[in-house]
Amino acid sequence: MSGKSNPNVRCVTCTAPVNIAVIKYWGKTDETRILPTNPSLSVTLGQDELRAKTSVAASSSFTEDRLWLNGIEQSISSPRIQNVLKEIRRRAHKRKSGDSKNDVVLTQHVHIVSENNFPTAAGLASSAAGYACLVFALGKLFGVHGEISDIARQGSGSACRSLYGGYVLWKMGSKEDGSDSHAVQVQPETHWPQMRSLILVVSDQKKHVGSTEGMQTTVQTSDLMEKRIKLVDKRTAEITKAINERDFPTFAKITMQESNQLHAVCLDTYPPIFYMTDTSRLIVRLVHAINDISGKVKVAYTFDAGPNACLYLLEEDVPRVLSLVRHFFPPSKDMKDSSFVTGLKLDEIKPLSGDISQINIPISEGAVKYVIHTNVGPGPQVLTDPKESLFTSEGKPRLTP
Ligand code: PMV
Repeated sequence: MSGKSNPNVRCVTCTAPVNIAVIKYWGKTDETRILPTNPSLSVTLGQDELRAKTSVAASSSFTEDRLWLNGIEQSISSPRIQNVLKEIRRRAHKRKSGDSKNDVVLTQHVHIVSENNFPTAAGLASSAAGYACLVFALGKLFGVHGEISDIARQGSGSACRSLYGGYVLWKMGSKEDGSDSHAVQVQPETHWPQMRSLILVVSDQKKHVGSTEGMQTTVQTSDLMEKRIKLVDKRTAEITKAINERDFPTFAKITMQESNQLHAVCLDTYPPIFYMTDTSRLIVRLVHAINDISGKVKVAYTFDAGPNACLYLLEEDVPRVLSLVRHFFPPSKDMKDSSFVTGLKLDEIKPLSGDISQINIPISEGAVKYVIHTNVGPGPQVLTDPKESLFTSEGKPRLTP
């Protein structure tokens, strides 16, 4: 870091997690306020492996609001970012402290720098982590406390769930203004210490139909969607009970059925939407084969708006499942074997020959690019060490190439 620190710049740096839904959000009743057709429920993943990091700064020397995302300046004029900024400022005005030192920020422009430690827009919930982080950081900068997940919701629906750790429910709410459509924690990250997740990255390319457009077309054209909406409440209640009781087989079965139903309504959309690929379907077959030979549901898959799989399983089953993933989806020749699995450390385990002979799926080299091994983690965090800031001490964005 060089130069003198600028006392006129107020800066806050935060991180926020990715969440992967087990009861999916797919469909809105209000496109502007982002109100969902059904409740949804997710698991917040560990931030060491998957997180957004955002620094927000306010200064009288800034002449406009500006935004840099993953090293590149972006337009800040998107309606969703504008809605978030407007709502934070509105609430900050409402709670004005009367202390001019704190209130001065209300009249200032903000600069925002954000980056992810994982591929953006690859169906890995990057917008959820990004908007949750933005809202959390702005909340700290503007002194807006209390329930802010409804503000994150207006950035990206699923972002409201990333404001809490552990197991999180996005309540649909019933008020027209959306004020009761926000996230609540069902259980903290400490509730089920054995829970693990393996993200099988099949592609880190951008998805072909964005979730906003995709869910809009589904709501307009899918007959199956009406049936689905009627079923979701029951499923949400059942999986909440399974989480509360740490009942893995029930949790896993509902998770898989939910994922399958999301992709079924996508297929029932006209024109149809395909997020899962041949590799995604081979992963589904592998998971069911593992569960079959185990005589018990040991692992669950779930897919969002992209081909990557998120597997949920318990710690004791990670070595065996990972060894089978590596056997059936070995890394391509140009990839070092040691970088195939990232995240939480594991001892090398060879697949059991008995397991392999019972599983009848083709070996697909290079189809899974890499695996992220993570656990269930906490909600957003504030980073107080100035070295963590994405601004230099003079208040300029520190952009990593
Ligand atoms: O928040 P959005 O608009 O990115 O929608 C996310 C939708 C899914 O990821 C497919 C499902 C979910 O509940 O997260």
